[in-house]
Amino acid sequence: MPASSAPGSATGEAGAGRVGRSREPFDTLNLIFDNSNRQSSVTLTGRGGRRVKVQAAVAWEAGAKLSIEEVDLDDPRDDEILVRVEAVGVCHTDDNARLGRMPVRFPIILGHEGAGTVERVGAAVSRIRAGDRVLFTPDYCGRCEQCLLGFTPYCDHLVALTFGGTRPDGSPRAHCGGRPVRAAFFGQSSFATHALVTERNVVPVAADAPLGYLAGLTCGVQAGAGAVLNAMPVGPGSRVAVWGAGAVGLAAVMAAAASGADQIIALDRVGRRLALAAELGATLTIDTAGQELADVTAQVVAATGTGVNVALDTTGSPAVIAAAVESLATHGTASVITSSGAPVTVPPGSLLLRGRSLRGSMGGHINPTVFIPRLLELHSRGRFPVDRLVKNYPFAEVNAAIADSLAGATIKPVLTFD
Ligand SMILES: NC(=O)c1ccc[n+]([C@@H]2O[C@H](COP(=O)([O-])OP(=O)(O)OC[C@H]3O[C@@H](n4cnc5c(N)ncnc54)[C@H](O)[C@@H]3O)[C@@H](O)[C@H]2O)c1
Ligand SMILES: [Zn+2]
Ligand SMILES: [Zn+2]
Repeated sequence: MPASSAPGSATGEAGAGRVGRSREPFDTLNLIFDNSNRQSSVTLTGRGGRRVKVQAAVAWEAGAKLSIEEVDLDDPRDDEILVRVEAVGVCHTDDNARLGRMPVRFPIILGHEGAGTVERVGAAVSRIRAGDRVLFTPDYCGRCEQCLLGFTPYCDHLVALTFGGTRPDGSPRAHCGGRPVRAAFFGQSSFATHALVTERNVVPVAADAPLGYLAGLTCGVQAGAGAVLNAMPVGPGSRVAVWGAGAVGLAAVMAAAASGADQIIALDRVGRRLALAAELGATLTIDTAGQELADVTAQVVAATGTGVNVALDTTGSPAVIAAAVESLATHGTASVITSSGAPVTVPPGSLLLRGRSLRGSMGGHINPTVFIPRLLELHSRGRFPVDRLVKNYPFAEVNAAIADSLAGATIKPVLTFD
């Protein structure tokens, strides 16, 4: 059965592609990561042999700036969806991957907070149709125990599906000048005018959804909100501390406010971010610049009586994480959301004698297909104003958007396409 088409779709052209003998999904991904050679050795191409010409920001090698190129993207396979990207958020993980700090191989198309309009769907796609508008989420296998339990951010195959950059059978989805380009970063590679995704990793939105800022919802914002709403016991009357007021921390502040938390303390060392936190629901802000963390902890405890019930660290600083634990009330829970390498030192007695917990929280802590609609509902009622975090940039300014994000000048850059 042919894929269905939408008006104004990307132009198809004949290609030479042919897939080899099909392999067991994910076996190939494991092979990719067993191979220490970081040069791409992928030669497989699209099964249908047709490709579409698109514009994509290609990372040719670790450390290089992204370069906008004309790329041949495969036609959607039976389980794939071709989407015209209208907006895509920029996240620190894109830059970490660009710099080679993540297990990616080059050349690769980055971008993992895409949103757009479906142009064509493969024959096996049933839930999504041409013309639907969708947000992309990180991909997951859908078959392992964590996926079946609904905890897709903890999918057993997360690393391969996130960073492998190819389909499960090892094919790259895209070519540039005849050279394979990995185009499945987080299952989407959405720094491009068009992207291939699957039913697993899209969430339908309303026909008039403002993708120019909603695209910024699906990674760090969802992770911060989900840490508060799904991984930790925040509710009416809770006392909450959010350390770091970037996209993730401010999302946590908004989520805590939407949950009816009684006290929400935002901590950062950048005054204008704290001012925004106060507008978004923080009941107290603490500028930690130039302060000893022990003094900051004492201020949190003093402001709340016995400490906070819930603390979220978004700074990734081991010293701040330890301070977040020390600011907890008895039976309080602190959550980490970063994977920075430095060990955290917490005296066992600090956990034991107060019954405190320190835990991790990935990607919103539940399946985004379930959680994103909840955030959209909160947004529609004015209780999760994610638009307040976003600044738009034209796609051509992708490198400037990344630089502004790293410099802290922009909280959540979102690229838009004409
Ligand atoms: N677990 C997940 O699913 C997930 C998803 C997305 C992002 N993340 C991670 O979350 C982290 C935060 O992301 P973000 O986009 O909010 O980053 P960001 O840089 O915009 O925000 C971090 C904030 O922390 C503040 N900060 C840093 N060190 C501090 C210190 N010592 N004391 C006080 N404040 C300090 C900064 O001023 C900044 O405002 C990143 O490490 C990112 O990789 C995790
Ligand atoms: Zn991200
Ligand atoms: Zn899985």
